[in-house]
Amino acid sequence: MLVIVPPHPLVGHWIAVARNKYSPSAMFRNALAELGRILIYEAVREWLPVVEAQIETPLALADVSIVDSEKPIKVVPILRAGLVLLENAQTVLPASETYHLGLVRDEKTLLPTEYLNKLPDSFSPDDKILVSDPMLATGGTLAHALDLIVARGAKPENIRVICALAAPPGLSKISDKFAGLRIYAGIIDPELNDVGFIVPGVGDAGDRSFG
Ligand code: PRP
Repeated sequence: MLVIVPPHPLVGHWIAVARNKYSPSAMFRNALAELGRILIYEAVREWLPVVEAQIETPLALADVSIVDSEKPIKVVPILRAGLVLLENAQTVLPASETYHLGLVRDEKTLLPTEYLNKLPDSFSPDDKILVSDPMLATGGTLAHALDLIVARGAKPENIRVICALAAPPGLSKISDKFAGLRIYAGIIDPELNDVGFIVPGVGDAGDRSFG
């Protein structure tokens, strides 16, 4: 498994805005959405097949390459907060299809429960799948989501995850189970506290986004 933290000043900037406990909900959401935009760009860099064409500019004919929209990227936001990180996906990606997945982590056991599953019955092994969840804490939620996706025929090497913050326990859990996967993170924080929150973290991303 590969973990990539894009070395871009705006990544640090939007993490800083999200970390600030005085950032109101709208500002917090905007920070995650902007961070998501950058992480999406990075994650799909080699995933977008292009077709060569010619177009007329106002002055002349120009050779151009255009992203091939025949093969849409399949995006899977893990509700709730994963929705915010993917807010710009539909404008960043010329072609995408969205499959919502609702998972909630029990506050005591820290285990995820599924409450919505709009995944298709099957994926093709060469489908490119982008999963979003802002927080990778224990990794239980993401592992559950990836199990569902892989069980439908997707290949881990064709799945990329974007998350705002990742912590070592979550990263090692996912790395043990899904070799070949790539995770694009805004930052890696050092630890979890005794109730499973990432520290220093951003608090509860779902509550801060949606109240
Ligand atoms: C949070 C977070 C992740 C999950 C991470 O979601 O957004 O989905 O917990 O924890 P884990 O790595 O230990 O599984 P939560 O269950 O609070 O749902 P929400 O997004 O609806 O607030």
